[in-house]
Amino acid sequence: MPTFTRSYQLAKGLKIPAVGLGTWKSKPGEVRNAVRVAIEAGYRHIDCAWAYRNEHEVGQGIKDSGIKRDDLFITSKLWNSFHKPEKVQSALEETLGNLDVGYLDLYLMHWPVAFDGQTSDGKNRIDWDLTNDVTPTWAAMEKLVDGGMVKNIGISNFTVLKTKKLLEKAKIKPAVNQIELNLHCAQLELVRHMVLTATAPPQWMQAHNIVVEAYSPLGSTGAPQLDDPVVKEIASAHGATPAQVLISWQTARGVVCLPKSVTPERIKSNFEEVELTTDEVTRLEQRAAEFGTRRTVDPSKDWGVPDLWKDEDGIAAKL
Ligand SMILES: NC(=O)c1ccc[n+]([C@@H]2O[C@H](COP(=O)([O-])OP(=O)(O)OC[C@H]3O[C@@H](n4cnc5c(N)ncnc54)[C@H](OP(=O)(O)O)[C@@H]3O)[C@@H](O)[C@H]2O)c1
Repeated sequence: MPTFTRSYQLAKGLKIPAVGLGTWKSKPGEVRNAVRVAIEAGYRHIDCAWAYRNEHEVGQGIKDSGIKRDDLFITSKLWNSFHKPEKVQSALEETLGNLDVGYLDLYLMHWPVAFDGQTSDGKNRIDWDLTNDVTPTWAAMEKLVDGGMVKNIGISNFTVLKTKKLLEKAKIKPAVNQIELNLHCAQLELVRHMVLTATAPPQWMQAHNIVVEAYSPLGSTGAPQLDDPVVKEIASAHGATPAQVLISWQTARGVVCLPKSVTPERIKSNFEEVELTTDEVTRLEQRAAEFGTRRTVDPSKDWGVPDLWKDEDGIAAKL
């Protein structure tokens, strides 16, 4: 099977490879090897975050591979504790130091939620000003682009309406929105409104040029969606694995896909593309519609931010 060589054009000129290696929950002792194996298998895109607490080992894996820095696309994310504008640059510098690289290709605001220390019972205290209005944090991220420390900035876990609100004030538009996308959380409407495909409404496509990235494409830890009968049937028709079908479905939707694995054989096979037919893509979208939106990653209750996804309902009517 061919490997993924496709990439998408970002608004500011760089291209982002369609498949990247996820690194969340990749243990420090495992991720160094995983990153090296991935790069040797052809991956040119690594998805990292300060919050994953393993960026130092990711950096070691990059060094082990011997690849030139400029040949890789590296993403990291600004954690919620560093949303105060004066903390943004030092948070990035810590990430750059851990990864041991001079710049990032993409820096994302990990969540549209700002923390302000902790309460006496160890819970994160929410900074409601910076949660209700992320633009001061965004403006600090824009300065990082101006200073050459990051090539692109983007967002993660933003609903369409939160994205719209940011676009009204942003000097630099977000290049990317990284969100949960998988069979149980296909976010059909959001993808339809944001992704640069022939079927996307032209007003969004031309005006905003935001690339969407799929996180947890296999349903996250333990890859629970690999057992789905529709996915298995399509996989068997291609002599492929269910994981390959789920990953190829996301890229067929015009979405960047970020599968995580620390298992060498899986890392390699996940990077092989299945050429799905239009009918198969339609079957997967129909199957996904049966599940609605069942998020695997939903900290809204834990953080006490009940409105995290609220405005996602009925987006079409509001655009
Ligand atoms: N922006 C955000 O808020 C956010 C949130 C979540 C995730 N992410 C990003 O998206 C990436 C992917 O999401 P994820 O880590 O939640 O989950 P995922 O990629 O959907 O699934 C990872 C799980 O699938 C297993 N797996 C991988 N390939 C497999 C295969 N071919 N066959 C069987 N099992 C397989 C992995 O096991 P092994 O590792 O043991 O092989 C691991 O348990 C993250 O690592 C992170 O970079 C971002």
